[in-house]
Amino acid sequence: MRVIVVKDKAAMGKRAWEVMQEAIMGHANPVLGLATGSTPIPLYDEMARANKAGKADFSTTITFNLDEYVGLAPEHDQSYRCFMNKNLFDKININKANTHVPDGKAKDVPAFCAEYERMMDDIGGVHCQVLGIGSNGHIGFNEPGSSLASRTRMVQLTDRTIQDNSRFFAGKKDVPTKAITMGIGTVLEADSIILLANGANKADAVKKSLEGPITCMAPASALQLHGDVTFIVTEDAAAGLTRMVER
Ligand code: GLP
Repeated sequence: MRVIVVKDKAAMGKRAWEVMQEAIMGHANPVLGLATGSTPIPLYDEMARANKAGKADFSTTITFNLDEYVGLAPEHDQSYRCFMNKNLFDKININKANTHVPDGKAKDVPAFCAEYERMMDDIGGVHCQVLGIGSNGHIGFNEPGSSLASRTRMVQLTDRTIQDNSRFFAGKKDVPTKAITMGIGTVLEADSIILLANGANKADAVKKSLEGPITCMAPASALQLHGDVTFIVTEDAAAGLTRMVER
């Protein structure tokens, strides 16, 4: 696994965009797996900047987002669909019909999840998957205890995640308690993976992911099983690491 430690969020975004470009180079229809949360925003800003400057074209790009809250319609201002439109899709020349975010209002959730997996399969899989990490080590919404072989499904959010994400809602009671998320097994099928982390509150999760045992109790530790993973972490998030890293 490649671990790149950077000074700040802006540098994290720049390095992530460089690594992403290497990963999608040569693909006529690049397929990106995308994440929400505050962490990937500097990367999305870089993508938008490059597009605006005429240095990147997303007209043939296809995207699949990791997750969505169950119960939130795409129009809800805290839905992940709304987040993606606002922070990326509305800023680049992507065809919205090629952007996929799980449907938080799906009537038949298991059927929807199977269809989401089928769509990714039909397209030939994800070339580059972007991940953030929860303070408890979750990726997507695969909370501690998720099977390392899990696929897209509905999950229950932990109290810690609800608490962490309550900052975006009026209060903790307004945070949905369930979500649809790609599974850990789904994520591991991407050709390459970039995990981004910044902030001291992620240091423990980053250390457990990179230097701890592979365990479902630290979901991102499953990335140790993948052959092409790059962690790009700010100095504060890397504070607990003891092994050699690239700077
Ligand atoms: C949510 C998302 C995760 C994300 C995490 C961290 O729980 N489902 O994909 O990694 O938030 O968010 P932030 O980047 O804001 O710390």
